[in-house]
Amino acid sequence: MSDLVIEARELTQIYPVKQGLFRAPAQLQAVNKVSFSVAAGRTLAIVGESGCGKSTLARMATLIEKPTSGALTIDGRDAVNPPDDQRRHLRRTVQFVFQNPYGSLNPRKKVGTILEQPLVINTKLSKAEREEKVRAIMAKVGLRPEHYNRYPHMFSGGQRQRIAIARALILSPKLVVADEPVSALDISIQAQVLNLLADLQEELKLAYLFISHDLGVVRHIAHDVLVMYLGNAIEHGPKEAIYARPLHPYTQALLASTPRVDGGKRERMILRGELPSPLNPPKGCVFSTRCPFVTDRCRAERPEKREIDGRLVACHYAEDFLAKAAA
Ligand SMILES: Nc1ncnc2c1ncn2[C@@H]1O[C@H](COP(=O)(O)OP(=O)(O)O)[C@@H](O)[C@H]1O
Ligand code: SF4
Ligand SMILES: [Mg+2]
Repeated sequence: MSDLVIEARELTQIYPVKQGLFRAPAQLQAVNKVSFSVAAGRTLAIVGESGCGKSTLARMATLIEKPTSGALTIDGRDAVNPPDDQRRHLRRTVQFVFQNPYGSLNPRKKVGTILEQPLVINTKLSKAEREEKVRAIMAKVGLRPEHYNRYPHMFSGGQRQRIAIARALILSPKLVVADEPVSALDISIQAQVLNLLADLQEELKLAYLFISHDLGVVRHIAHDVLVMYLGNAIEHGPKEAIYARPLHPYTQALLASTPRVDGGKRERMILRGELPSPLNPPKGCVFSTRCPFVTDRCRAERPEKREIDGRLVACHYAEDFLAKAAA
């Protein structure tokens, strides 16, 4: 049996968008044929600018939204049209952590009660057994016993994110989808929460789909990286390959805008121009309106994804960039 916890094939989400009273709705392609898989104990980072489709992907992976097309398998089960008797299992198998934990923590409920809730709904555990489980998970995420009877507003942002992580883990999921889980936190706190997530993954063999707009943030936690632009996966592969030799000009630009840990200089490549509207994407390469290397071919012909140097990349000239990086 494969240890793939989630497998997505050509996952697509198209939203109809109203364009005034008398015009037919336009089709907004938020996610376009994105494929990936994540095995137990592994982290796939989904990275790209705001609006590229990351949260839409997260909503599909957490079964909040059905894809317009494509296949999604979670824990070996069809997650697009699950048979009735599989829904409950799927919902327990996938849990999520969002950017703003305060918005999702009921301010009128104590932490102990918030964490107990999924057990009340999904298990037949007694009150005492539930409390024992809640206290154990609180200890695991670094919350203190006295926090059990406190309200969410009494916590800092980092501690609230620990509460959200505890809530995600209470039903022993196999996959955690984290959408910008540290983006609202101070840099020093970000590192603590990222370390916690890494420790929990190691201990519990969790699969993570970790979403961020920042390649710097995912550098420590990712095993694989998938870079998105305007709903499309433009580069996808092992972290080492992508950080050492980014082959897509968009990945190069994203990486150039993150500071290097070793303090070394990186050739600056600043993104020019505005992100095009996903209602009216460029005809050829999706990145063609902002790419410094654009040619007539790029404007006319959409590059197919292909494997080069151990990763998938969608750029007509990726071989040239590889040769340049090796020179
Ligand atoms: N429910 C929706 N209806 C219409 N358009 C949407 C909806 N949700 C997201 N979008 C659009 O889809 C695109 C991708 O959005 P999103 O997934 O939130 O991106 P990200 O999380 O990367 O910032 C954006 O252009 C956004 O405006
Ligand atoms: S295909 Fe052309 S426009 Fe697109 S990323 Fe490659 S060089 Fe740039
Ligand atoms: Mg988002």
